[in-house]
Amino acid sequence: MVIKTLHDLLQEGVSGRGVLVRSDLNVPLGDDLAITDPGRINASVPTLKALSDAGAKVVVTAHLGRPKDGPDPNFSLAAVAKALAERLGGHVQLAGDVVGPDALARAEGLTGGDILVLENIRFDQRETSKDDAERLALAKQLVELVGDGGAFVCDGFGVVHRKQASVYDVATLLPHYAGTLVAAEVKVLEQLTCTTERPFTVVLGGSKVSDKLAVIENLATKADSLVIGGGMCFTFLASQGFSVGKSLLEEGMIDTCRKLLDTYGDVIHLPVDIVVADAFAADSPSQIVPSHRIPDDKMGLDIGPGSVERFTALLSNAKTIFWNGPMGVFEFPAFAAGTKGVAEAIIAATAKGAFSVVGGGDSAAAVRQLGLPEDGFSHISTGGGASLEFLEGKTLPGIDVLNSPPEANTRTR
Ligand code: 3PG
Repeated sequence: MVIKTLHDLLQEGVSGRGVLVRSDLNVPLGDDLAITDPGRINASVPTLKALSDAGAKVVVTAHLGRPKDGPDPNFSLAAVAKALAERLGGHVQLAGDVVGPDALARAEGLTGGDILVLENIRFDQRETSKDDAERLALAKQLVELVGDGGAFVCDGFGVVHRKQASVYDVATLLPHYAGTLVAAEVKVLEQLTCTTERPFTVVLGGSKVSDKLAVIENLATKADSLVIGGGMCFTFLASQGFSVGKSLLEEGMIDTCRKLLDTYGDVIHLPVDIVVADAFAADSPSQIVPSHRIPDDKMGLDIGPGSVERFTALLSNAKTIFWNGPMGVFEFPAFAAGTKGVAEAIIAATAKGAFSVVGGGDSAAAVRQLGLPEDGFSHISTGGGASLEFLEGKTLPGIDVLNSPPEANTRTR
């Protein structure tokens, strides 16, 4: 079955109709609760704008962070709703609750073109419940907010790997459509996996091997080169018998890394040098050392210039590139050169015709924070975990449910 899209919904007509949209507005906030990277907000605007312009009564549901014990002002969507209002004009309002009296009253008062943002859906613990009945009960309350004749648009690509009430269960209750962001993301990732032009180079960073194990195992069989940097390179270096000093180390993964290197040693490339420091601090004095000679009292916080040069050589020939995870602690300027250098090599390869995808999360934030041109890459995904799970070949519940014929989705309301 072909997934229906926002385009189909707009053709059917939405003027005056309630449309529930699941967006991924999970943006990083600073200590003052100000948004530090609005990438996901910007990426959510086209679908919301199209629906509002077409006269729909739009109800947006989204999460922010992982609040544990119900409503918490530190996880409020207030700053996000304000940012959306700045981009979409004065039609945006924020409900004071998720599906409570304020949300209901505001939803009833909507007129065509209005956009109502519900408070953080994870303030209601049924959202992430493993109990199907609990999630369905919350989904039914969400559906009530869009009234009879309502529709559901899934536009939160970053969360489609979660089987949650606002992602999965609502789609079993309403006619459902993929928003422009979800449709675009799926198309790009399908291109990456199905019609990969070679050489295919994958760059993986981030702190934990355990988080990326499945994707390493999967992509090592498909890629021509798999470059590993970031905190997780130290567990690989340790598996080769080198001391990594005070660097990040996952002791429990050393054997796994050794086996990966035994099996895919010709594909996996590790840093040849490392920028080490005394402590995890922006102003800690640093030096560059060979990756097999990290002093016992130092910690690695970035890959060194020799590694950037080596990785750049691999990337310069690539025709397809996937990058997920920074090469070092890019938030500290002294340890950002590795991430910046690799990103620049990907931009240069893209300019020569390579198809490059940045896989969300920290690497997408790094592109923006380091002032790199976003249009230097073919695509910057909004989904960190979601894009990785897609590439691992896993079923994504939020996409899978959009594939189900509507008849199969008619559940007692
Ligand atoms: C993300 O940040 O990757 C998505 O918004 C999903 O968030 P989660 O990992 O808390 O489910």
